[in-house]
Amino acid sequence: MIPIHVLHGPNLNLLGRREPGIYGTATLDDIERDLRVRAEGLGVALTIRQTNHEGELVGFVQEAGLSGAGILINAAAYTHTSVALRDAIAGSGAVAVEVHLSNVHAREAFRHVSLIAPVCAGIVCGFGPHSYGLGLEALARLLRNRLSPLPSDASSGANSQD
Ligand code: DQA
Repeated sequence: MIPIHVLHGPNLNLLGRREPGIYGTATLDDIERDLRVRAEGLGVALTIRQTNHEGELVGFVQEAGLSGAGILINAAAYTHTSVALRDAIAGSGAVAVEVHLSNVHAREAFRHVSLIAPVCAGIVCGFGPHSYGLGLEALARLLRNRLSPLPSDASSGANSQD
């Protein structure tokens, strides 16, 4: 099984009732249920966590990265502000994929900047709860190919550092 930690940042515990016009009505439990079904099909062992605290999120990232698990992360508002989070991803050597429910690039200018994007393998945003599923599939594929690279992936140019 491929270990992947799904990390949710601040205010995502309010999904379902939080600004539904932007984030929809799916709750974190709904997202978790969907991810667990997908994970089974992908051969992924999931750990799922949410916190409203920056330091705790940094701790979760370190724990995942140092244990060799991949990270699917919606850092929420800390995406745009947290140097500590970026340093945790880089410092723990984690393979991370950044996800957002909303299309952050179609929103306020302060959401256009992601401090963690440069240390993530890729980003999925704008597909609502489906962003998580797409991110999980991409991350599982990336981690699987690291264990046994396919010739077609090696020549595609995507993630050529892998
Ligand atoms: C979010 C986008 C962030 O800008 C915002 O602060 C969030 C949620 C998203 O999933 O669309 O809390 O990460």
